[in-house]
Amino acid sequence: MRNSEKYSRGYYMPPVKCMKWAEKEYVDHAPAWCSVDLRDGNQALIIPMSLDEKLEFFNKLVEVGFKEIEIGFPAASETEYEFCRTLIEKNLIPDDVTIQVLTQSREHIIKKTFEAIEGAKNAVVHLYNSTSVAQREQVFKKSKEEIIEIATTGAKLCNEYKKNAKGNIIFEYSPESFTGTEPEFARDICNAVIDIWKPTPDNKVIINLPVTVEMSMPHVYASQIEYMCGVLHDRENLVISLHPHNDRGCAVADCEMGLLAGADRIEGTCFGNGERTGNADIVTIAMNMYTHGIDPKLDFSDMPSLVELYERVTRMRVYERTPYSGALVFAAFSGSHQDAIAKGMRYREEKDCDKWTCPYLPIDPHDVGREYEGDVIRINSQSGKGGIGYILEQQYGYDLPPKMREDFGYAVKSVSDHMHKELMPNEVYDIFCKQYLNIEKRVKVIESHYVQQPNGVITAYVTAKLDGSDKAQTHTADGNGRLDAVSNALKKMLGISYTIVTYQEHATERASTSEAVSYVAVERNGKVYWGAGRHSDIINSSIKALVSAINKALE
Ligand code: KIV
Ligand code: ZN
Repeated sequence: MRNSEKYSRGYYMPPVKCMKWAEKEYVDHAPAWCSVDLRDGNQALIIPMSLDEKLEFFNKLVEVGFKEIEIGFPAASETEYEFCRTLIEKNLIPDDVTIQVLTQSREHIIKKTFEAIEGAKNAVVHLYNSTSVAQREQVFKKSKEEIIEIATTGAKLCNEYKKNAKGNIIFEYSPESFTGTEPEFARDICNAVIDIWKPTPDNKVIINLPVTVEMSMPHVYASQIEYMCGVLHDRENLVISLHPHNDRGCAVADCEMGLLAGADRIEGTCFGNGERTGNADIVTIAMNMYTHGIDPKLDFSDMPSLVELYERVTRMRVYERTPYSGALVFAAFSGSHQDAIAKGMRYREEKDCDKWTCPYLPIDPHDVGREYEGDVIRINSQSGKGGIGYILEQQYGYDLPPKMREDFGYAVKSVSDHMHKELMPNEVYDIFCKQYLNIEKRVKVIESHYVQQPNGVITAYVTAKLDGSDKAQTHTADGNGRLDAVSNALKKMLGISYTIVTYQEHATERASTSEAVSYVAVERNGKVYWGAGRHSDIINSSIKALVSAINKALE
């Protein structure tokens, strides 16, 4: 990058050191949340939402638990005006929800804004004007006094219009482009407005300090907030609100540090939609709080349905790696991560843990409506025995011996590698069946009978077909157990030698039937071959596992 000298740091540190917030460790209570999805979010869309889409989104925001929702800029467009009127006239606003409407500080706009909210039980009238050095010099070409005059004229008009309004009207003032404004000037203009609105404990005023364009690191913003909290008139009757945009990718951090610095309220959007790089993502801020053990007072337990609605009505997309909501945020493809997760989940079960500590999963996927199955352990060529074995165990009930997991892991990785794609659980199971389960390609045992000798030795009579022949042959052999006796009979029949090195079995229950699953490894000419068998009878299942392993050895 050659032109960095073209840029200067266009933000303002407060005139006094304001770093008390840095001594706090975490946000210890939920702020008041205000969704601006239907205003700031909507005005940033390629195709703004229709009235029906806005209504659907509004209802969802209410369902999630938002008590304050900025529904638009009613004086700026017919659709926004109509939306506001529809909500009020059709009685669609719950009594405990306050709608918020944005207005510039101009008389005809303020007048129309009050007309728009006529009949609303609770409404915030949000007045703003730009205060930054750049806007004052380049856009408005006005002095500081003239900029204050715009704000105070608007504030007085709001007082006038409020006199005739019937509902409960709260005022909000935003020195727009606050972070590009000298802190002392931001203080003066906000105080001038506060002095006109005269907040009381029952009629607080919201002072919203927007990061209209994000210019600084989050600690600078936090210092600005701490400064403002200390210098504004009547602080106890104010609600200090944050409204960061995400130009430097730090809007969430701005909010979190701003809360540490004393703010009471956050304006933002779901998934961070909004002008340019977006507004602060309220889902992330709230869920960050949740994962620190603090109830955010918003309910994202059905995240998939919120994502679905959001994507449909905004025509935007939730990026796969968006914290808490992205399609891949719980997915582990890497073998070592899968292994740790599988062990962590088992540990949880065994120890009956009440705190969530599972490695590589910062949050329990169930808390946001996601599943362990399908969302967490995902299989591709990066995956390992832990995850692959976990899928087989959790979804299909096969608990493979550790060495067999390893063998199977290589088989699955190799398929994924060659196909160059992710494998779904049913494909993983398919590979298992084809590679190991009840294999009868060259040897097929038709039946076996046993006689126990007085010395405890078992004699097996084994009838089998070889190499696809229709002719069955029967061989007899002794052994110190049934499997051993069958194995000795098969060795005779096939004229080969091998050693059984592992035998393991367990019961498995699928639907209403309980079956036995067995795993056998045979070693032949220095190589180990695995087989698995499944049958309602445990002896038959072990013979099937042995026969599968022999078939693999003969391949
Ligand atoms: O980003 C901003 O500054 C705004 C104001 C209108 C609050 O959206
Ligand atoms: Zn904004």
